[in-house]
Amino acid sequence: MQQDIEEILFSREDIDKRVAQMGAQIQADYAGKDLLLLGILKGAVLFISDLSRAIDLPLEVDYLAVSSYGNNVTSSGVVRILKDLEGPISNKHVLIVEDIVDSGRTIHYLMEVLRQRSPLSLRVCTLLDKPAERVRPVVCDYVGFQCPSRFVVGYGLDYAQRYRNLSFVGILKRSIYAKDEPEPEQQHTSPAEEQS
Ligand code: IMP
Ligand code: MG
Repeated sequence: MQQDIEEILFSREDIDKRVAQMGAQIQADYAGKDLLLLGILKGAVLFISDLSRAIDLPLEVDYLAVSSYGNNVTSSGVVRILKDLEGPISNKHVLIVEDIVDSGRTIHYLMEVLRQRSPLSLRVCTLLDKPAERVRPVVCDYVGFQCPSRFVVGYGLDYAQRYRNLSFVGILKRSIYAKDEPEPEQQHTSPAEEQS
């Protein structure tokens, strides 16, 4: 897989260090509170498994699966819940854990849906933030790293469901996905539904 990577942006060591810092910060902020870490499948799985172990609190973990319609390197903004939470959140402090906030559409939509369920608080923790791509205003309360405006994979992030198991985050070579990019005149045909 390494030969498909143009450049490593965040090494396993960089990620370990940063996740430990984020865990310590979250631990301090949520001490004494009923915390629910809410991972967004599938991209946030590696991040939440490391992050949750860096937080020494009696927290709960649950997952939401969402889909977005679009080709594999850009998202179209239509979001749908594929797998919902197991229970109510009205007595919990909810911290959404995401792999990357790009256009902001996914988090924006989820915040609206979850706010209606009246959690005690609702905040966002993302490993990567790509603010240059934002089309929806989203406040990320905890950010691992600022990410350049490039398509990245690894540590949970995928291209066409591959590369999630890389232990680092790197820029995918354009040649890998260029062949799958739709021609400009095809861009309005129905794209496949894809899970985050
Ligand atoms: P948003 O709704 O545009 O903020 O997109 C968020 C989702 O798009 C993330 O949870 C990822 O699944 C996916 N995504 C956005 N940028 C990248 C990237 O550079 N690599 C892999 N997935 C990405
Ligand atoms: Mg994805």
